[in-house]
Amino acid sequence: MSHPFNVTAQSQTTRARAGELKLVHGTIKTPVFMPVGTLASVKSLSPEELKEAGAQIILGNTYHLYLRPGCEVIDLFSGLHRFMNWDRPILTDSGGFQVFSLAKLTKITEEGAAFQSHIDGSKHLLTPEKSVEVQISLNSDIMMCLDQCIEYPAEKEAVRAALEITTRWAKRCKSTWTEKTGGKNALFGIVQGGMFEDLRRQSAEELGEMDFPGYALGGLSVGEPNQMMYDVAEYALPLLPDNKPKYIMGVGTPEDLVELVARGADMFDCVMPSRNARNGQLFTRNGAINISNARFRTDTGPADPECDCYTCRNYSRAYLRHLYMNRELLAYRLNTLHNIHFYIRLMERMRAAITDGEFDAFRRNFHAHWQAR
Ligand code: GUN
Ligand code: ZN
Repeated sequence: MSHPFNVTAQSQTTRARAGELKLVHGTIKTPVFMPVGTLASVKSLSPEELKEAGAQIILGNTYHLYLRPGCEVIDLFSGLHRFMNWDRPILTDSGGFQVFSLAKLTKITEEGAAFQSHIDGSKHLLTPEKSVEVQISLNSDIMMCLDQCIEYPAEKEAVRAALEITTRWAKRCKSTWTEKTGGKNALFGIVQGGMFEDLRRQSAEELGEMDFPGYALGGLSVGEPNQMMYDVAEYALPLLPDNKPKYIMGVGTPEDLVELVARGADMFDCVMPSRNARNGQLFTRNGAINISNARFRTDTGPADPECDCYTCRNYSRAYLRHLYMNRELLAYRLNTLHNIHFYIRLMERMRAAITDGEFDAFRRNFHAHWQAR
């Protein structure tokens, strides 16, 4: 296979592991955090800035890019990489989740997800085949299967129906991927099953038989209590093949990332560092601060004294607060740069701790300092 995953270190006291995943546009080291660039841009940052922050791979969204600018524009550049000037790996989500959360009048049938665009109300049918074809146009390094993510709470029979359609769609995604790419770029399966252990097992087994290059846990961070998400990860991650990368979609806080790496997760994406930056929330070793707080008006220190990002090397909390209070555009850039850097450094420190056999100590130390709000 052209995208092998190698586990390079395994924590002896937890399920945390470090690894390397070979992709078309380069090899990424795991555990990894993928900044979200929904519209072929991590909001407010240039590719150079993302690289300086240490981003190895970013995420794009099939749903958004298919609607606007559309494949005929991306095809002029033979994919997203040249369109957005990013030469490292890209993962694209399949569109299923975004259809459910953004589109109007969604109707799920065996054929696919029928929806109306959130932009202009135009009607579309996103089938598993179409989702993979669009992702091939985007030339993403990692494509995701079209799935049905179910809300929480949900009746068990509805959760079962969603996971079973996800399995049937995964088969169709895999056929399209095999026929049209020969398996060059990777395609990941998405395990659903809500908060039911037997259904997660059924989903993991059905997808496991299809031998995807990697697997994701979907349907998490949909409103369930935090401990419930940890419990699902605790029993569901071991159901996935250990020689494949394991990705938890749409998660989470810095604390979540530490707890989920401890349970065996290798990959994450979340809008939290970038979106919250634009709302004035900055991450520090001691937890999150909101830069709009009056106590920062005269604070001459950096956002996070332990951070070596461009923002923290050059600007004070007082200046960042001033920019933010005035809605200056630079506020969004500097805040996003810091938060993305913070998330990526956190993952780097976890990788190093796992490799050095010190993940347990790292985890305890992290919690000793981190204060949830
Ligand atoms: N992003 C966050 N959760 C999910 C999910 O369940 N499915 C997909 N496709 N994307 C997600
Ligand atoms: Zn910083």
